[in-house]
Amino acid sequence: MNAAFRFDDWDSPASPARPPVPTVNRDFLPKMESLAALAPINAADKRIVNGKADINQLAPFKYPWAWEFFLKANRNHWTPLEIGMAQDVHDYHHKLSAAERHVFENVLAYLTTSDILAMRNIGLAVMEKMSAPELQIYQARQVYEEALHTWTYQHCIESLGLDQQEIYNRYRVVPEIHGKIAFANRRLERVMRADFDLEDRANLHEFALSYFFFAVIFEGCWFYNGFTPVFALQRRGLMKGAAEQLQYIMRDEVLHCAFGIRVIRELLIEENLTLDPAALRQLWDEAEAAETAYAGYILKEPILGYNAELHVAQFRFIANRRARQVGVAEPFPGAENVLPWLDEQANLRKEKNFFETRVTEYQTGGALAWE
Ligand SMILES: [Fe+2]
Ligand SMILES: [Fe+2]
Repeated sequence: MNAAFRFDDWDSPASPARPPVPTVNRDFLPKMESLAALAPINAADKRIVNGKADINQLAPFKYPWAWEFFLKANRNHWTPLEIGMAQDVHDYHHKLSAAERHVFENVLAYLTTSDILAMRNIGLAVMEKMSAPELQIYQARQVYEEALHTWTYQHCIESLGLDQQEIYNRYRVVPEIHGKIAFANRRLERVMRADFDLEDRANLHEFALSYFFFAVIFEGCWFYNGFTPVFALQRRGLMKGAAEQLQYIMRDEVLHCAFGIRVIRELLIEENLTLDPAALRQLWDEAEAAETAYAGYILKEPILGYNAELHVAQFRFIANRRARQVGVAEPFPGAENVLPWLDEQANLRKEKNFFETRVTEYQTGGALAWE
């Protein structure tokens, strides 16, 4: 029998001798005294920002809710390719009125630009400043989800054969769409800088306000309310594929907003910080003005069951809800829930599948009944 090495016989005396252990050149290793810096850390030492704990050590958790968000986000997994768009192509070309096509295209144009912006803000400004790994892990997922949303809009745009040069440039050439994006860029520009020092109290307050704008207004109000014109079409049996895509996106956005609000609440307590009411008032007023101009453009002609007035009224109602969730004053006291069906869209489950679309349970792709 020859002495060839056999993978299934590790104890064979015929196995070749083990190679010698390489010699360690200790000149290139840190001296033992510097290793004292690697003492175990305590979870209690973690902080939302400005923490000194080890960013590469996931657990024990100080913010177990952040890990729960990560697990929950992973149960809402889909890709846009799984949702049929054939009927939408027919609807778009043969059933939608000119006013309805105008609404649909501009909502898509606004949302796709917004999602790129969201991805960059989370990835470049927010995630990098979070100093507990369980917060960063969820935000890494969020970055991916924003990219997935961008893919989803692109899939809709491609499926419908829309002019990409025209659609993707729309936010640049339509002032009412540009206004919202420019406002967001203005609000987020400074905090996106890597050298934005959060040890400075004024900067910390600005960061909290900017994050409030992003999570509460941009995601929690503008996005939440932004899908609504397409859901109004869906309720009439139109553009159901695109609407279902938006329902999946909306579920991600609900989590993004809830996570952001939780972070803000904890940040304010941890840093003994109060959001300046006058600064908040200005944010809400600017956001409402931008949203009103946007609604006036996309709905310059009302469509059946939906108009600019309803859009703005619903924005105010959702804004109040978000403010209560953060624990600050309602910006628009007395605003009414003029579109009660919107919340159903965010929480749609199998048994409430009254839009006659595919099953869109809040579960992982493997558990979804894609027939
Ligand atoms: Fe998104
Ligand atoms: Fe988002």
